[in-house]
Amino acid sequence: MVVTTASDGTTPRDGWSSRSAFVLAAVGAAVGLGNLVRFPAEAANNGGGAFVLFYVACIVLIGLPVLLSETLIGRHGQASAVESMKRLAAESNASKWWGGIAGLGVAAAFMILAFYCVIGGWVLYYIGLFAADIVQSGISGGALTGMSAEDIKAIFPDLLNNGFTMSVLDVAFVVITVMFVARGVSGGIEKASVWLMPAFFMLLLGITIYGAFTGAFSEAVGYLFTFDASKLTGPVMLAAVGQAFFSLSLGVAGMMTYGSYVGRDVNLAKTSATIAFADTSVALIAGLCIFPIVLAAGLSSDGGLGLMFDTLPHAFQSMPFGTLIGLAFFVMVGFAALTSSISLMEVPTAWAIDKFGLRRAPTAISIAVAAAVLGILSAYSFNALSGFHPLGFIPLFEGEGIFSALDSVTAKLFMPIGALLVSIFVGWIAERRLIDNENGLSGGLHRFWLFLVRWLCPLALTGILIVGIFPSLLPA
Ligand code: PHE
Repeated sequence: MVVTTASDGTTPRDGWSSRSAFVLAAVGAAVGLGNLVRFPAEAANNGGGAFVLFYVACIVLIGLPVLLSETLIGRHGQASAVESMKRLAAESNASKWWGGIAGLGVAAAFMILAFYCVIGGWVLYYIGLFAADIVQSGISGGALTGMSAEDIKAIFPDLLNNGFTMSVLDVAFVVITVMFVARGVSGGIEKASVWLMPAFFMLLLGITIYGAFTGAFSEAVGYLFTFDASKLTGPVMLAAVGQAFFSLSLGVAGMMTYGSYVGRDVNLAKTSATIAFADTSVALIAGLCIFPIVLAAGLSSDGGLGLMFDTLPHAFQSMPFGTLIGLAFFVMVGFAALTSSISLMEVPTAWAIDKFGLRRAPTAISIAVAAAVLGILSAYSFNALSGFHPLGFIPLFEGEGIFSALDSVTAKLFMPIGALLVSIFVGWIAERRLIDNENGLSGGLHRFWLFLVRWLCPLALTGILIVGIFPSLLPA
């Protein structure tokens, strides 16, 4: 176990064994289904190059400053997110209620964990599908041989109709996640990141190179990067900012929690920049990995989850070595989803350990059980419980089942509110000297960061929050 010392100099804590372990774990948290499913689909549907450029600007000008703010709060506090916020607030003579911001984040992380593991379960299903296909028909031909286009189209809707199968797979994904979280930071979470992230990168590059040679690569580049400024409308910009925050895992106290395991010798500004750069690169490469395959098969993206679970399996059918590539692809997605679900589970686990003085393994297992129960309810919201709309009384969430309500509430309310309050806290409330000691910046860059955290981030996040709640305010 690697031990770091708390800022009060007393409690020894488990922590990352090196700077690169932190970077890999944080990149693992950031890189997930958001990069692989949502980014490519949104980029393609929302005007390609203009969306991509605006997205990168959001990452640099809004996401990165908040990422640095979150990690520095955690590193300063050397405790769970809520405790770290409270410590920094107390040392800055501010109300301890600021700890509540991180409390919102803990709740959001738990809610995202619940529905994220349902999607993780779908990924397991497709891994099984392609593995069985290899056993049956070998690797040389295309995937899913003998299935008609209709059969393939039916795979995903059939799965969504089957609440029991989805529940079993959800529980399986939660169990895999908790196996790492229960083993601790250096003994479990770090091990997962250090093995899975390099494997993820190799698979991503391998499949992208395969797509570049066998698929419609130049068409995909055109599809993703053609610049058409007229497509950059209000809703598209909103989608880009929301995606930037989700992708960097901000506003849910995750980066605060991971930051709390970082040693004093690490420059947080440099590591935050590395994390944001890696996350954005993966999103862009994911687009260049998926679209050559999809376009070569003459398919088009319908956006959303259908791109991964419907369109891609279809595309693999007609590709050389399609079964093998399909299996590699879903294993890669599984690795990315797992390192993200681990970070999501770690947030409430670290909180409960701190709050109630509990031991890690039983705490993580209790949270896993609760997440599995909520996940099973989410799985049934596609079928037996589809008529149940838990937040139906709020117009914004009208008609949404449990799964999509969890997604919307966290994306539209919890994440932007969390990130907004973090930027206000770091920009205006926290003692300047304490912040300056942590952030690893100096000179003009320091002043620029401060300007972004004090002005641009709060303004942009308030805007996102308002138009997220009142979408009709946006000009189309
Ligand atoms: N960033 C992850 C993704 O892109 C999702 C996530 C959000 C993970 C919040 C942790 C916390 O899929």
